[in-house]
Amino acid sequence: MRLCVNIDHIATLRNSRGGSEPDPVVAAQICEQSGADGIVVHLREDRRHIKDHDVWKLREILETKLDLEMGASEEIVTIALKVLPNLVTLVPEKRQELTTEGGLDVITHKERLKNVIQQFHSKNIPVSLFIDPVLIQIETSKEIGADMIEIHTGEYAEAKTPEDIQRYLKTIKHAASAGKKLNLGVNAGHGLNYINVSAVSAIPEIDELSIGHSIISHAAFVGLGQAVKEMLSLVK
Ligand code: PXP
Repeated sequence: MRLCVNIDHIATLRNSRGGSEPDPVVAAQICEQSGADGIVVHLREDRRHIKDHDVWKLREILETKLDLEMGASEEIVTIALKVLPNLVTLVPEKRQELTTEGGLDVITHKERLKNVIQQFHSKNIPVSLFIDPVLIQIETSKEIGADMIEIHTGEYAEAKTPEDIQRYLKTIKHAASAGKKLNLGVNAGHGLNYINVSAVSAIPEIDELSIGHSIISHAAFVGLGQAVKEMLSLVK
């Protein structure tokens, strides 16, 4: 099981002051030094967190892999075809959403997605489709040439009762094994945290997890004590 860390929210924090700190590039290096198998960033159309220069710099310095999460818009596809990340993960993108809300509807957007996948394949870049754990979405992903799927774990992560948690977990397991049977790479992510991750990481058909918010949130608390001590030693 590989872990790729989404560092979008380091950029959110940086942008809140309009300066250059904390630098997502430094964050990515810390993640790599700590054993992460890759770095994920979402270059959104509104550039609310990760900016174009972050993506270019990450492409230059990363020693593991760059998974560029993106909507399939013309503008972002053009940029990605120049940046040449190690992996492209296509996600649905709505301007007003706080985070990616649901999986791609591969059936509705079949022709566009097929065309975008072909463009990336012409540059030898594998493509993953972020989809809900629904069989027809998995089968259609395979049909249009996706190399991988990323199973949306949001419903599982948000489930409140033990029954719902088990029900959504089962759906994820079925989706993962359906993906593997079709010879697709199987990733998963969204809403995974220190409490709910173990049940997902125990699914043998899942190759890789993509986790952001919980790691960045936890990092603030794990690091806060040290940060205060260092400042105190300067102030006192
Ligand atoms: N995978 C995809 C496709 C996402 O859009 C996101 C959120 O940016 C994640 C994984 C990570 O989700 P979280 O930040 O909740 O860990």
